[in-house]
Amino acid sequence: MCGIICYVGKEDVVPILLNGLQMLEYRGYDSAGIAVRTTNENNCNEITLLKKKGRLSELSSQKEITEIKGTMGIAHTRWATHGEPNDVNAHPHADCTNKIAIIHNGIIENYSALKKILEEEGHTFCSQTDSEVLAHLVEKFYTGDLKEAVKKTLNLVEGTFGLAAICADNDEIIIARRGSPIVIGLGKDFTIAASDATALLNHTRRVIYLQDDELAILKEGSCTIEDFAGEKKDNNIEEIKWSVEQVEKKGYKHFMLKEIMEQPLAIENCLRGRIKNGKIKLTLNLDLKSIKKITIVACGTSWHSGLIGKYIIEAMTKIPVEVDYASEFRYRDPLVNEDNLIIAISQSGETADTLAALREAKKKGAKTLGIINVVGSTIAREVDSGIYLHAGPEIGVASTKAFTTQLTALLLFSLYVKQELGEELDDELVETLLELPSSIKTVLDCRDAVKEIAKHFIASKNFLFLGRDVNFPVALEGALKLKEISYIHAEGYPAAEMKHGPIALIDSEMPVLFIATKCLLSDKILSNIQEVKARGGKTIAIINEEDNEIERFIDYKIIVPHTLKELSPIINVIPLQFLAYFVADLKGLDVDKPRNLAKSVTVE
Ligand code: AGP
Repeated sequence: MCGIICYVGKEDVVPILLNGLQMLEYRGYDSAGIAVRTTNENNCNEITLLKKKGRLSELSSQKEITEIKGTMGIAHTRWATHGEPNDVNAHPHADCTNKIAIIHNGIIENYSALKKILEEEGHTFCSQTDSEVLAHLVEKFYTGDLKEAVKKTLNLVEGTFGLAAICADNDEIIIARRGSPIVIGLGKDFTIAASDATALLNHTRRVIYLQDDELAILKEGSCTIEDFAGEKKDNNIEEIKWSVEQVEKKGYKHFMLKEIMEQPLAIENCLRGRIKNGKIKLTLNLDLKSIKKITIVACGTSWHSGLIGKYIIEAMTKIPVEVDYASEFRYRDPLVNEDNLIIAISQSGETADTLAALREAKKKGAKTLGIINVVGSTIAREVDSGIYLHAGPEIGVASTKAFTTQLTALLLFSLYVKQELGEELDDELVETLLELPSSIKTVLDCRDAVKEIAKHFIASKNFLFLGRDVNFPVALEGALKLKEISYIHAEGYPAAEMKHGPIALIDSEMPVLFIATKCLLSDKILSNIQEVKARGGKTIAIINEEDNEIERFIDYKIIVPHTLKELSPIINVIPLQFLAYFVADLKGLDVDKPRNLAKSVTVE
């Protein structure tokens, strides 16, 4: 949520900042801006600031931007929390003297009180943002030492921040973190930092993940880290493994399409080295025998994979599983203790609600496990044990390969627990799991057929997705995908629930998609399809093979290969990802950056 990038070195900083913002734009895209330390005709240093409402292209196409010259600067791409998206509310924010500029990711909860005090002291505010108080506080405390001024500022603020500050008088960038990620990249004669490691890949692979309540002083080719009390910290340098190629579109029109198509490889990478001779190889630092209950916490798509996880873990291990929205769990004083395992599922590993739920559970003594994609992310660092997805960077706001790899990881986890509890594994399931990447390649062949179907629904206003058992959460996921990128109102339900309400909505304007692949409840789903058809609804069904009986009642079919029940959500969700993608693309919408959304939600 919001992307920040800063650079200090020898190179012309503007192209570096713009390139970084481009890599970060998926984090927020309602406005963007840069602040650069420049030198004026009197040879005095000053801060030159340029910011624009709208996509990054609005900023980068400004004529003035080519005239900004300097080797140190900060830049920001915004996802609005306080104050509408416009030029003034865009970051960076400057102080009254225009000597100091800051960029901020997060929320300053006590900004109104601080703003009032600052206004009484004579500060004039330009924007409606919470962040602007940071610029004025740094100004208030600045007496020549930028780091000290930032420290004093942070002592006063409540809330979350990933912050960068520069001053015309100093040749250093001060960054600080509480709750919003910042990664520092180290080069021979430059230092760069960003809210996401992907933005650093063009420059360096040697990185340091700044921790909460730490600040760093970035200078040309050096970085010093300390906590807010001034105690020096070690530079724990790590190596990024992702390649630049992995975060590019590789000829696809959108990241989302690329990421859908990458699923065979993503799953292969998730499985790699984790199944050997029919045994599951995971290194989990957990006493599995002592676990009496599992609670899964997550948000959005990750919550949907948690729901499927419940069906699978309970069936396989007989350990009771609850699944909670992280945002609800964190505030409801949950019944959790040392005998419980909390599984936090998150693609980004930075989702504020999931992180808070995890911390709440830790406070209550629970054991914790993370199922996370982004290596080194905050949740990944705070859990006792973890399973990385290895899906590679997911840039499209609509999550696709993270979902299917989360399901793969949950299957591995369930099998592993069963094995460690001394139970025999189902060989057929383990074998079929290993074959999953090639089954998914076959499912991807439905792409053109789904595109044809999508053409019939671009004018739809509503959509219903129905499924049962492990495929009920797949219906929820299909509905979420469609609404977030095509802006069509969509709901997911367990098919049998239709008669308890949603059936009232069925008419010729209501498309209903059934996940009707072979399962124990196939006959019941067929009855539901008939009920919709009898009321004039448009029906689409995902089925396993030509099926005369079902085809009598459906308008459109999507055929996917048959698989075991446990793996069916991974197969069945793929046509739903395509459907959402093609409906949105045919409507001419910005698939990778849907309105009002951001990839990583690091605010409450
Ligand atoms: C999925 O398409 C969404 N954009 C969103 O629901 C997402 O899954 C949710 O915000 C959780 O993110 P996380 O997995 O990074 O924690």
